[in-house]
Amino acid sequence: MPSHSIGHPSTDPDSRPVVLVLFGATGDLTRRKLIPAIYSLYVQGLLPARFRIVAVARSERSDAAYREEAHEAVQAHAPAVPVSRSAWNTFASNLQYVRSSLETKADLDGLRRRLSHIREELGTASHHLFYFATPPGSFAPLAELLSASGIVRRSHAPAHPGRVWHRVVVEKPFGRDLDSARELNARLRAVLDEQQIYRIDHYLGKETVQNILVFRFANRLFELLWNHLYVDNVQITVAETLGVEGRGRYFDQSGILRDMIQNHLLQILTLVAMEPPVSLDANSIRDEKVKVLRSIRLPMPHDVVRAQYVRGRLGAEDVPAYAEEDGVPSGSRTDTYTAMRLYVDNWRWSGVPFYVRAGKRLARRLTQVVIELKPVPDILFSRLAHCELVPNRISLRIQPNEGVEITMGAKEPGAGIRVAPVRLRFTYESEFGKAIPDAYERLLLNAIAGDASLFARDDEVDAAWTLVTPLIELWEASSDAPATYPAGSWGPIEADALPAADGRSWCNDAAA
Ligand code: BG6
Repeated sequence: MPSHSIGHPSTDPDSRPVVLVLFGATGDLTRRKLIPAIYSLYVQGLLPARFRIVAVARSERSDAAYREEAHEAVQAHAPAVPVSRSAWNTFASNLQYVRSSLETKADLDGLRRRLSHIREELGTASHHLFYFATPPGSFAPLAELLSASGIVRRSHAPAHPGRVWHRVVVEKPFGRDLDSARELNARLRAVLDEQQIYRIDHYLGKETVQNILVFRFANRLFELLWNHLYVDNVQITVAETLGVEGRGRYFDQSGILRDMIQNHLLQILTLVAMEPPVSLDANSIRDEKVKVLRSIRLPMPHDVVRAQYVRGRLGAEDVPAYAEEDGVPSGSRTDTYTAMRLYVDNWRWSGVPFYVRAGKRLARRLTQVVIELKPVPDILFSRLAHCELVPNRISLRIQPNEGVEITMGAKEPGAGIRVAPVRLRFTYESEFGKAIPDAYERLLLNAIAGDASLFARDDEVDAAWTLVTPLIELWEASSDAPATYPAGSWGPIEADALPAADGRSWCNDAAA
């Protein structure tokens, strides 16, 4: 049987070289994620045969110094990737550094010279992937500057094999509310075509997030149940034990609603709730995702709980309150936890609550989707003594212990009838026995292959902000203090009231 891959065209007939231009080359993201991911792709033989990486940042560095930093970054952040000296040296010979403050056209002279030198060296024009790993305020000005100086060119038509393409990958956050996201979209679209813009949401690069689509549409079994006739409620949890990790200043301007819910959590929700796309191409998938976002009813204030962590204990560690973190002003009202009850008002999901929550400094790192089915009729087993009838649950474990788990009732061995909850479990580790690649590997590979299915389209970003912005405005206009929860707990008790008001409860029982 042939196997099918999502979002990764199998062969690339195009043998042109690819130049990756990384802006923000000395930043945290480039060091922790991009360089390790690019090197890992190289070691696996997944990069084009001829490539160059041009790293651009403001500070002065020689090529040699930058290569050394990149080497350390790979060792520190991709310990599983073999870094033999000879493989590294060949890779590093393709890595160059250019200093630029990226403010005026003249600041781009050095980059332009370097790119034309690469062209001469390779003897042919290359494709270019420009990666904006820079602060969000620079996305639009940088695109405008690159366009005005002719380094990035607009292309109206989809790239054909052999024809040179220019693509721009834009990191998150994409705007901080609906207006700013629209303005950013408009400014990017003024100099680039939509099909050249790759808006990152790294959750879409996670294998387990991509598996949602496969799990649903490659199996008849589950899709039959996937609607309001059988599903009682859906829960999506994105729980982190991490706090703000030295990013207090950024996070305080953002809050969890912008940082995790507007993007990552809503992306997961769209994949869980969407209709089958007509094909696996980027626009078909994104069309269906946008429909979901547009069907979500605007939550009312009583559907939302916002909270901030106070001092607590995580394992053996005493954790300070959010308001005591570096960069966070005392008296900050920023949410480090938000829970919501959402409804997807379409035929499939009519009346089914989606309880969603995301938070920092929670009891355990856990990202999962739980589809809880309706209980069986209250006729047979529930009337027996000692019977613990739990509803069937399908848990999609995004991370950690990636896999899928189904909870169901089984007869306990012995005389009489006792029903006990048991679990069927599939884990990536036990089934496939190989490490799950980092999301950035997949995203970079897809951007190079011109597959945008794992990136957010402009109307998708717009629809997500349309949903979240009224909540942000309401919150900013109110003087209410957020609820609180101790670090190391499962969140504020106020959040328990959301499902409890409907006779339900959060499902925290992820198997280890
Ligand atoms: C980022 C957020 O987008 O995602 C961080 O800005 C968060 O605050 C991170 O910690 C979580 O990503 P992951 O892949 O570790 O779940």
